[in-house]
Amino acid sequence: MSFNVAIDGPAGAGKSTVAKAVAKKWNLIYVDTGAMYRAMALFMMREGVNLQDEEAIAGKCREAHITIRYENGTQVVFLNEENVNALIRTEEVSHAASLVSVIPDVRRAMVELQKKLAADSDCIMDGRDIGTCVLPGAQLKIYLTASSTVRAGRRYEELTARGVSCDLNQIQADIEERDYRDMHREISPLRQAEDAILVDTSEMTQEEVISAVSRLCGKAGALQ
Ligand code: DC
Repeated sequence: MSFNVAIDGPAGAGKSTVAKAVAKKWNLIYVDTGAMYRAMALFMMREGVNLQDEEAIAGKCREAHITIRYENGTQVVFLNEENVNALIRTEEVSHAASLVSVIPDVRRAMVELQKKLAADSDCIMDGRDIGTCVLPGAQLKIYLTASSTVRAGRRYEELTARGVSCDLNQIQADIEERDYRDMHREISPLRQAEDAILVDTSEMTQEEVISAVSRLCGKAGALQ
């Protein structure tokens, strides 16, 4: 049986940074499930599908073949055989991903792929419904969160460091809107699984979070 760690939490809580570092330490594959929803969103945007039209999205999603491969230990997402890693990190795609991820047909396809990846390999998988829906039997479940003010501040610093001009209040409003949608959708909304360990990173440094989650992995039985 493979060893699986589930990390869920809202946007900007630092899930991917932590998961990547912990994956390296414990020799696990890091599976970023948000990237799959982002690839699906990119497909819909390119096809000119109205993102408010659930039926249109459900009808089109079968044409998007999404796969994951690993190149030098890094996850690469392919959309109909095209590497789209560099195209899915924009604010526009973030917004679209939050919209397409409410569609049941989209979720069904993504969850199937995620379960298969986890069954085939020891992994740490992050997303919104991993502990509650994708990997209910994961050996370790973490719910990683931080206040929306702290998350917006981190995002603001990240963007300004890259030379992107942005507005802190707008970033916080976008984060809160996305949280609301992710937490209130009908199918597998974002919530803490009953057996997940809550880690609030608002007052923690990145190193502290990584070492706390690493320790929990060791306790849960990860082998180095
Ligand atoms: O983690 P992220 O920001 O890359 O995710 C993009 C969107 O995809 C997010 O708004 C919610 C959705 N998502 C989801 O519904 N379920 C997941 N397991 C992962 C992401």
